[in-house]
Amino acid sequence: MFSFSSFTPLVGLDISTTAIKAVELRPAGKGWRLFKAGVKSLPPDAVGEGKVKDVEAVSAAIRELMSEAKITTKQAAISISGSAVIIKQIQLDPLGELQLEDQINLEAEEYIPFDIEDIFLDFQILHTPKAKKKKKGKKAKTEPAPGALDDEEKMDVLLVACKKELLENYQQALEEAGLEPKMCDLDLFAAANAYEQIIDPPKLGKKDEGSVVAVVNTGATILNITTLKRKPKQPAGIPVFARDQAFGGKRLTEELQRSLDLSVEEAERFISAGGPDDGSPPPESYEADILGPFIDQLAGQIKQALDFYASSNADDPIQKLCLSGGCALIPDIENRLGTILEMPVAVADPFVPLKSGKITDSMSPCLNMPPRFMVACGLAMRGRDL
Ligand SMILES: Nc1ncnc2c1ncn2[C@@H]1O[C@H](COP(=O)(O)OP(=O)(O)OP(=O)(O)O)[C@@H](O)[C@H]1O
Ligand SMILES: [Mg+2]
Repeated sequence: MFSFSSFTPLVGLDISTTAIKAVELRPAGKGWRLFKAGVKSLPPDAVGEGKVKDVEAVSAAIRELMSEAKITTKQAAISISGSAVIIKQIQLDPLGELQLEDQINLEAEEYIPFDIEDIFLDFQILHTPKAKKKKKGKKAKTEPAPGALDDEEKMDVLLVACKKELLENYQQALEEAGLEPKMCDLDLFAAANAYEQIIDPPKLGKKDEGSVVAVVNTGATILNITTLKRKPKQPAGIPVFARDQAFGGKRLTEELQRSLDLSVEEAERFISAGGPDDGSPPPESYEADILGPFIDQLAGQIKQALDFYASSNADDPIQKLCLSGGCALIPDIENRLGTILEMPVAVADPFVPLKSGKITDSMSPCLNMPPRFMVACGLAMRGRDL
């Protein structure tokens, strides 16, 4: 009857290159229930490389989306990604959170190539080394200060910065659509959050040996990757590595449009159906010259990030990969990527664990493309943090 954890209704809005995806969730028992969902395509060049380029077009699309999906909640969470966002993993001597904030503000210019006045800066602690326990009976020659840590151990901190004007455009688009922007996350953390809380929540209490999973979200232009390390009995995985790379399905769509003279919509339907609208088989050149090379490039991009992770985390190999975003709609992508990357790959369907809610007509198109809603689902859960 009574709950100590509060929840404020919040719409998660993933404003991306091809479309705006909206999700509203409600807490249901230990999990979540899908309350509202909708998608609205964006005109080309309204959003690109992680930037709102046409505020008018984006705010008009938000307004239409909210009306079509019958979403009345005014508070919104959004996310950003891509080259306009600087994500840097740095190592520092261990400090408390407040000291760390001071230190980062002092040293920010060293890491961020912009005038500090022009940026928003935030950080997240990825890894804090544990203080080494003194061995029983052995007295240290010099007594360490209370809570002192091993000299060699450093704290891993993820610095996130973006130009103020980047967020101002998002904010303006939301406000012109009558919404109140409440928080801004990163696409990669929103996807990781959806993985942690919806796709595969840690099973506490059972025998959990810990694991490392790579959560990869590949949309039209940006590939977001986070590796989450789970330890036994921990309620959530720890992000160990996070980065955005400029790569996505737009290359595939455009190549298909060009070679077969299709519209964007026809090309997208062709991609997910594996052939043309009339049900005839695709031309032989599709596999050999378009799809095969694209999947090889996608695997190469993921491998590059995984190799980078492995170079400093040899003791914690990645055991599996969860794929979301529009590229996860390519038929058989999990097996094709799994074979190249030599690890189990699963396509994320964030709606399956949520489907206990009432499914309305406006949700139907969304349910045909669940992996594209991973980021919006991750954002919608942030109502717990307000
Ligand atoms: N059935 C499909 N419908 C839409 N897109 C598809 C489909 N199948 C594959 N795709 C690919 O997925 C991409 C869109 O995915 P998604 O919605 O995740 O991108 P986005 O969020 O708009 O892009 P970004 O996050 O990079 O700005 C398209 O560019 C297309 O190549
Ligand atoms: Mg996206």
